[in-house]
Order: sequence, then structure tokens, then C-alpha cells
Amino acid sequence: MAENLKQGSLISFEGIEGCGKSTQIVMLAERLRRQGLEVVISREPGATALGQELRHLLLDPAHNPDALTELLLYLADRREHCLRVIRPARIRGALVLIDRFIDSTWVYQGFAASAADAGSREAVSAKIIDNLNRLVVGPDWPQLTFLLDCPARIGLERARRRNQETGAVGIADRFEQRHLDFHEQVRAGFLHLAEIERERFRVIDAQQEIDYIHDCIWQEFSGRILG
Ligand code: TMP
Repeated sequence: MAENLKQGSLISFEGIEGCGKSTQIVMLAERLRRQGLEVVISREPGATALGQELRHLLLDPAHNPDALTELLLYLADRREHCLRVIRPARIRGALVLIDRFIDSTWVYQGFAASAADAGSREAVSAKIIDNLNRLVVGPDWPQLTFLLDCPARIGLERARRRNQETGAVGIADRFEQRHLDFHEQVRAGFLHLAEIERERFRVIDAQQEIDYIHDCIWQEFSGRILG
């Protein structure tokens, strides 16, 4: 992909809980805005009004949906997100930075779910997830994906600290409540994807200092997107 991808580019950030995606997205957006570019920051689930309601249902520990049900709810959120937020922004020529996208579904509802749920829920195959993702997303496939990688223990500790700081102690969502093993599977799933989609993924060591991580992202980003 040699062309200048700046206008209408779609960049996703992926990784386990507490890997620092949101901090890095804000840092990158600020730097790009200082250069006069229009940047839209978004996230999944919950980027639209309907998506907010879906997010609430999806993360509520009171529910334990079947894997396919869960997948369809995430995809419903994504379809609204693409049509109402991502596509209009890209058509305007804005650069879109998303906190979680297609790869989280492949990892959480596919790779990690099948390992964690062995026997208890019928896992959805990677092929079905891929086909449905393509149907839902259409032209809005990310050009570049940053995987912020760190051990699950470190990410979860950071997520716990963040919850304490924001006063959200004791209300860990349905995913945060799961065991370390599950989060290690999530990490392995992302690394596996990055390995098979080397052209799109850039793996960043999320255990480094925040400013250092930002510099790594900036270097990759400017080489690839700003051309
Ligand atoms: P977060 O916005 O705090 O990262 O929480 C979103 C949670 O939803 C997170 O645990 C990952 C999960 N998730 C999926 O399981 N599948 C998906 O497709 C997406 C976008 C998120």
C-alpha cells in the first residue's frame, strides 16, 4: 500500500484490558490535530446512541449470552458505528482512530471464547466471524492496526487501578471479571492475528513508558499514513 492514506484513513487500536489504548489514541489525535488534520476518535462497543444501550447490555455481569448471541450484538453495534460515525467521517476526509474494532470480535468471541468455553458454549468459527465482519464493515476495513501488547497480569492491574481512580471500584464489567487465563488467551489471540496479518498490524510493547510508546506509534504512523 504505497499511496498516501491520510485522507479518510481508518486506524484501529487493539489489545487486552489496561494495555493503554485510550491514552495512546488521545496522544496521537492531539499531535495530528496540531498539524491541522481533522481527527475523529471513536470506540466499540458504544459509539452511537443505540450502541450505548448495546454496550450496557453486553458488559452487564447479570447476562451470560450464548457466544453467537454475543457476536450478533457486537456486530449490530459495529454496523451502526460504521454507517453513522465512521463512514461519514471518512467521506469528509477525517482521519478515524478507533479503540477496538473487527479484531476484538475475532479474538474475544472466537479465539479466546472457544478456549475458555470449551464444552459449555458452542463456539463460533473464525470463518463465520470473518464473513460477518466483512458483511457488516464493507469498505470500512482498517488500513493500519496497532496492537498494544503486554502480559495480562500487568494490563489487569492497570485496569483495576484505573477503576479505583475513576471511582468504579467493585463494578468490573463482565469481561474484566474473567480469569487471568482468559485474558492470556486474548493476548495470544491478538498476537496470532498480528502474525497472520503482518501487512496491517504493528505490534507495540505496551510495557514501555507512555511517551516512548507514543513515539513508536508516531513513527509507524507517519511512515505509513502521512507518507
Ligand atoms: P472496553 O471498551 O472497556 O475495552 O470494553 C469493551 C469490552 O468488550 C472488552 O472487554 C472487549 C469486549 N469486546 C468484545 O468482546 N468483542 C468486540 O467485538 C468488542 C469491540 C469488544
